[in-house]
Amino acid sequence: MITVKSLRELRAAVSRARSEGKRIALVPTMGNLHAGHIALVEKATQRADFVVASIFVNPLQFGANEDLDKYPRTLVADQEKLVGAGCHLLFTPDVEEVYPDGMQQQTRVSVPLVSEGLCGASRPGHFEGVATVVCKLFNMVQPDLALFGEKDFQQLAVIRKLVRDLNLPIQVMGEPTVRAADGLALSSRNGYLNESQRALAPLLYRTLQQLAEEIRRQPSAQSTLLAAARQQLEDAGLRPDYLELREAVQLREVQDSDRQLVLLAAVYLGTTRLIDNLQFSLD
Ligand code: PAF
Repeated sequence: MITVKSLRELRAAVSRARSEGKRIALVPTMGNLHAGHIALVEKATQRADFVVASIFVNPLQFGANEDLDKYPRTLVADQEKLVGAGCHLLFTPDVEEVYPDGMQQQTRVSVPLVSEGLCGASRPGHFEGVATVVCKLFNMVQPDLALFGEKDFQQLAVIRKLVRDLNLPIQVMGEPTVRAADGLALSSRNGYLNESQRALAPLLYRTLQQLAEEIRRQPSAQSTLLAAARQQLEDAGLRPDYLELREAVQLREVQDSDRQLVLLAAVYLGTTRLIDNLQFSLD
């Protein structure tokens, strides 16, 4: 695996691979890689001949009071994991390489509707930052396909819409969330949890599983069931930011005819914000 920091080196390596007829995959990340990221890279190696991973902690998607400065940076360990997973090229640009005119001067990509509500409501500007950097990474790498984890379900919906709306010739693949043995979705932010918070955290996914089962049994009682589940999380010490039920593609409010649904949640454990989701069908 080679690691490059500049767009010039990236473009040279990717065009070499393309001239050899290789199919190119991109796995965009912010580093601090865990088994979920590695599963994406391994999947990419099955679907493409040349796999590019990027590590870029994108300041544009962090709010003023968020964890940009303390976001874990673990480059050497990440490189070892990527080599083990069969990655061919790692792109680790500096902020100046991605935003040469500064962030204020950067043209932005904003994806309506699906970016609103849920994490979009609690993190204003977050999805604009994500859509902008993902669009730039797509243009820098020009991959045939790009892989993202379903743990960031709203992000994946935003990226799918961005690709459709801008007619980008890229296949977007969403891959299932990788979980710890106790059900907690793997996330770089899990590292912020202390021992007792970590012990409590799997309750989020258990609550989603139980709630999905209850809604499947009694779809007409969904508002009451959601309210009870929010209260259950609160009582246990997982302060809900949101816990909502949406249709599973555009994340619209649920209508009676919708069959494919998704529960989406964000909770605070102390100052750490965890997100998770669960897709299910009413059929
Ligand atoms: O999911 C992430 O790690 C980031 O939001 C992404 C997609 C790499 C964009 O910075």
